[in-house]
Amino acid sequence: MTILTNRRTLLKGATAVAAVTAAGKFPMPAIAQGAPLKVGFMLPYTGTFAKLGKFIDDAFRLNVEQRGGKLGGRTVEFVQVDDESEPAKAADNMNRLVGREKVDVVVGTVHSGVAMGMVKVARDNNTMLIIPNAGANEATGPMCAPNIWRTSFTNWQPANPMGKVMYDAGHRNVMTITWRYAAGQQSVESFKETFLKAGGKVMEELWLPFPQVEFQPLITQIATRKPDAVFCFFAGGGAVKFVKDYAAAGLRQSVPLYGTGFLTDGTLQAQGADAEGLKTTLHYADDLDNPANKAFLTAFKKKTGQDGDVYAVQGYDSAALLHIGLEAVKGDFGARDAMVKAMGAAKIDSPRGPISFSRANNVVQHIYLREAKGGVNRYVSIAHANLADPATGCRLAS
Ligand code: BEZ
Repeated sequence: MTILTNRRTLLKGATAVAAVTAAGKFPMPAIAQGAPLKVGFMLPYTGTFAKLGKFIDDAFRLNVEQRGGKLGGRTVEFVQVDDESEPAKAADNMNRLVGREKVDVVVGTVHSGVAMGMVKVARDNNTMLIIPNAGANEATGPMCAPNIWRTSFTNWQPANPMGKVMYDAGHRNVMTITWRYAAGQQSVESFKETFLKAGGKVMEELWLPFPQVEFQPLITQIATRKPDAVFCFFAGGGAVKFVKDYAAAGLRQSVPLYGTGFLTDGTLQAQGADAEGLKTTLHYADDLDNPANKAFLTAFKKKTGQDGDVYAVQGYDSAALLHIGLEAVKGDFGARDAMVKAMGAAKIDSPRGPISFSRANNVVQHIYLREAKGGVNRYVSIAHANLADPATGCRLAS
């Protein structure tokens, strides 16, 4: 574990009482309302998802700053851990944040495999976990729990409307390409669900290990087999390279490329003209015409000098959700049941549009069809309104 910032806060006074968790493994952090709330960011600050982690962190902090440095009336302190998008280190990183750093809540992460390790620990220790990106379906499916929340998406959500989009565009025989790990696999499965149902055929599924970027041999296979189109899942630095390699192979016009919006979100500047015209589905578009989006983009730019994207929006909304929960209990983190109830009833006027939460604690939201034009992921239409993940296997009562 790399602790990037370690401002340990000693909770003062008789009210700083340590309670024991349901599982009895770690003492729960003090619940004194006057004490600072300790938020542990477990995010990738290095590697192919580094920018994604940084934007989540920046936007979460922006939301807190806009509330005068507080959430639910509690001053907020942060601890950062670089999870390196490394699933094998997830449990150790999480255990140290909760056990040693004694954070009240963990906000993380980006990578689905790392998130699954975090969810296991959070379930064992009853730690409040807010997932600001990772889409692993299980986290709000069979592994759902009252202390596990997600403000981003399930891998099923943004990919599902794309089957119909591609079929309606006239594509019948397609290939898929992605990294072989949960996010890639679950995105492809979800896309296939609607594409096959519409009557399309998947000629071949191409895979490479995460986070490899040696796309050339697979792109050559696409060029040889000549499908009508390609569906893919890539994100971050890998998405930049894939889009550039695909264009360099001369396939951009002959074999249209589609994907979930992670392909072009936060990456367009680096992809340049090679991304022009790419159509993707996602729960955000840069130019969404609503006051919350305009205010958010302006404030994010002012704080960071950069253009906000879907990852920043998810970080921003994570703080908003935590604020709603804490406000309902006047900052008393120990009043967990009431806090969770308020979070479940939350309706947030997000930059992505209106969002609410399902019985599995996953976000319900519009999925947009977007087109990359002039460096912007432009809104085309709502591909599926208020899409809720089916939450298969989740046993939480509605
Ligand atoms: C994931 O691993 O769940 C993921 C990573 C980056 C973008 C979207 C999903």
